[in-house]
Amino acid sequence: MIQVIGLHKTLGVEKVLCGIDLIVPEGGTLVVLGRSGSGKSVLLKHLVGLFQPDAGRVLVNGEDISGLKERQLGPIRKKVGILFQSGALFDSMSVGENLAFPLRESGMLDPELIRERVAEALGMVDLAGEEGKMPENLSGGMRKRVGLARTLVSRPACILYDEPTTGLDPIATDSINRLIRRLQKRLRSTSVVVTHDMKTAFHTADRIAFLHEGRIYFEGTVEDLRASEDPVLVNFIEGRSGESD
Ligand SMILES: Nc1ncnc2c1ncn2[C@@H]1O[C@H](COP(=O)(O)OP(=O)(O)O)[C@@H](O)[C@H]1O
Ligand SMILES: [Mg+2]
Repeated sequence: MIQVIGLHKTLGVEKVLCGIDLIVPEGGTLVVLGRSGSGKSVLLKHLVGLFQPDAGRVLVNGEDISGLKERQLGPIRKKVGILFQSGALFDSMSVGENLAFPLRESGMLDPELIRERVAEALGMVDLAGEEGKMPENLSGGMRKRVGLARTLVSRPACILYDEPTTGLDPIATDSINRLIRRLQKRLRSTSVVVTHDMKTAFHTADRIAFLHEGRIYFEGTVEDLRASEDPVLVNFIEGRSGESD
């Protein structure tokens, strides 16, 4: 569904991505792990054309999106939905209005249809009937759910999650992990989950890629990763910096 070939990206003076090769199989979930600042969000943004590669290509359903202009990206953005780390909700709009926004943007006008689609998306994240709430009155976990509902409302074939559980307490984290799993089963969508949280990684992954120093340092199954004795991977999994005292 998504294929990244030889992707290079420099931002400012920093070479963030130095030749990324990656395949996201249709219907599966690829978790991209990596330390904070390793370039996970930059990589995700390339998958929806928010960044253009310096070199290399990004294919979505076989179509190279790396050269596309902003106005040519519309169909791609419908196919590939992204849940930003912050949730990126409009604070001045109610939950229902936040969800209706992308539908109107894409040309849906029928208020009844919009209402139905908004209700459907809220139901999928266990927030049925919460259209009237304002974002400021939501807990961190609920904000993430509303952000996710706003991604789902356009019915994307592929969902990208940027740090879906970062900043949440362990119980809210567990609940989002389970929600992602349920959605994968129900929608059979292709997913990419970017995280530095091992619980989220192990809970949601079919395959795991580990981003390190601008490259995919490891790619394999959860079992492959758990079995690895590579010190870089072991330190990351066990939350050790690898530095001495
Ligand atoms: N728009 C930008 N302009 C300049 N540098 C950026 C930009 N976005 C990210 N970076 C830099 O790229 C590196 C990787 O960032 P990011 O992908 O956000 O890391 P991660 O998501 O893995 O925590 C960081 O050093 C960050 O400062
Ligand atoms: Mg990030």
